[in-house]
Amino acid sequence: MHDTRNDLPANARASMAAALNARLAGLIDLGLALKHAHWNVKGPHFIALHELFDEIRGTLDPHADDLAERVTALGGTAQGTLQQVASGSALAPFPAEETDGMILVAELADRVAALGKSVRAGITEAEDAGDAGSADLLTGLSRALDKALWLLEAHLQKR
Ligand SMILES: [Fe+2]
Repeated sequence: MHDTRNDLPANARASMAAALNARLAGLIDLGLALKHAHWNVKGPHFIALHELFDEIRGTLDPHADDLAERVTALGGTAQGTLQQVASGSALAPFPAEETDGMILVAELADRVAALGKSVRAGITEAEDAGDAGSADLLTGLSRALDKALWLLEAHLQKR
């Protein structure tokens, strides 16, 4: 951890830097999965899904920047290399050869839901650490993931 004039206790800053880095890895992993699906999707709903996957990625990307810069604001180091993301993400590996539109929607929904659960737990971690700024940031990300999950799941639901 780097020295800072930020008055949050050092142990709180360190634990939140680690917690935020873990969600950052998941979010970058999800962003790559969304682009992969955007490029490779096939089927009768091609254009809608091609555009939807990119739109969701676009709404999530600014949150990754916010998470990373919160880590550094707390005196930590943002873990953004490919290798750090690969080892840090808790998401299941994305099925690289899948192209069926509805299967891709379901695979993405699984990962959005898993990350959403992790981010919700992170809000509690931040509150317990007395870090209202990180709790607020994670709350915004949680809301964005909930919306992304709705956009995906609406394709899978009949009613
Ligand atoms: Fe594109």
